[in-house]
Amino acid sequence: MIGLSIETSCDETSVAIIENGRKVLSNIVSTQIDIHKEFGGVVPEIASRKHLTNISYVVNEAIKEANISFDDLDYIGVTYGPGLIGALLVGVSYAKSLAYSLNIPIVPTHHIEGHIAANYLTYNELKPPFLALVVSGGHSHLIHVKDYSKFEIIGKTRDDAVGEAFDKVARVLGLPYPGGPEVSKLAINGKRTYTLPKTKFDNLDFSFSGIKTAVINIAHKEGESLRKADMATSFEQTVCEELIFNTLRAVNMLKIDKVVLAGGVSANRVLREMLEKAAKENSFKAYMPDLKYCTDNAAMIGSAAHYNYVSGKYYEIKDKMDLNAIANIKIGD
Ligand code: KG4
Ligand code: ZN
Repeated sequence: MIGLSIETSCDETSVAIIENGRKVLSNIVSTQIDIHKEFGGVVPEIASRKHLTNISYVVNEAIKEANISFDDLDYIGVTYGPGLIGALLVGVSYAKSLAYSLNIPIVPTHHIEGHIAANYLTYNELKPPFLALVVSGGHSHLIHVKDYSKFEIIGKTRDDAVGEAFDKVARVLGLPYPGGPEVSKLAINGKRTYTLPKTKFDNLDFSFSGIKTAVINIAHKEGESLRKADMATSFEQTVCEELIFNTLRAVNMLKIDKVVLAGGVSANRVLREMLEKAAKENSFKAYMPDLKYCTDNAAMIGSAAHYNYVSGKYYEIKDKMDLNAIANIKIGD
C-alpha cells in the first residue's frame, strides 16, 4: 500500500511517500524558517502564501524521489488540524484536488497522531499500547495510545506548551526563532545556578507559564548582568524534570512498559537523556524519533494516515469534498 501525505500546518511545506506505514520512499521538507526568523516567529499570512507557492513543486519532488508515478498511489493523507487555519487549508485543498483527479480515497489525519507515528518510522517493531509524551510548539500532552487509532489524553498543559515556553525564553535571552534548539545549544555551557518554580497538580497536568514568567522577571531585574547560559541550563533542566516527573507518574498509573517521545521538543538532548535514564531506573523501554522526524514533516503524517486508512478512517473523495481544515481539534475526536 502506497500513500502520499501532505503536511502544511505551520511553517514547513512537506510531502512524503510512505509504503505500508513504515517505509519512507521520500520525505521532502521545504522549511520557511529563514523567512519567519526576520519577524521573530511564524507570521500566519506569510506561511499560507509560501505553502501555496511551494506545494506543487514539493509534491512533484516527492513523487520523483520515490521513483513512482501518481498511478501507484492508493490514498492521499493530509494534516487537517490542529494548526494555522490558512496554512492547513493549502494542504487540505491540494489533497482534495489530487485525490479527486486520481479518484482515490482521502485520509484526514491529526497532526499529533503524526508526531506519535514518527516513532513507527524509527522503530519497526513498535506497536501500541504505549504512553506518549507529546511535546511541541502547540502541545504538552500525556496520551495513552491504546491502539493505532485509539487515543486518550491523560494529562495536558493548562497554559503554555513546552515548545512555546522554550521559544519565549529564547526571545528574552536574545536568541533567534525557533528558540528551542538555540536555548538548548546555549545551555551546554551553563550551570544550573537559578532556582525556578515548578508547578505541581494532583493530576497529570502541566503548567509552564509560571516558569516562563519567572525567567522574564529575573531577566528584567538583572539586565546586563543576567548569566544567559546559566539561565538556559536552569530553564531546560527544570522543564525537563517536570515532564519526566509526570511521565513517571503516568507509567505507574497505567502500569505500562513503553514510553514514546513525540513532537518538536523531542529533539531536545537533555529530555532524551533524562527519559533514557528514567527508563533504565524504572524498567520501561523508551522510544524517541530519529532527529529528522522530530519536527514537522510529512513522513510522520503518512505513517499515521496509513493506520487510519487500514482501520477504515478514510473517505471516498466524492463523499468528502466538504472536508475542511480545523485550527483546534483534540486528538481522538
Ligand atoms: O512539532 P513542531 O515542529 O511544531 C509544532 O507542531 O508545534 O515543534 C516546534 C517546537 C518549537 O517550539 C521549537 O522551539 C521546539 O519544538 N524545539 C525544541 C528543540 N527543537 C525544536 N525545543 C527544545 N529543544 C530542541 N532541541
Ligand atoms: Zn508539529
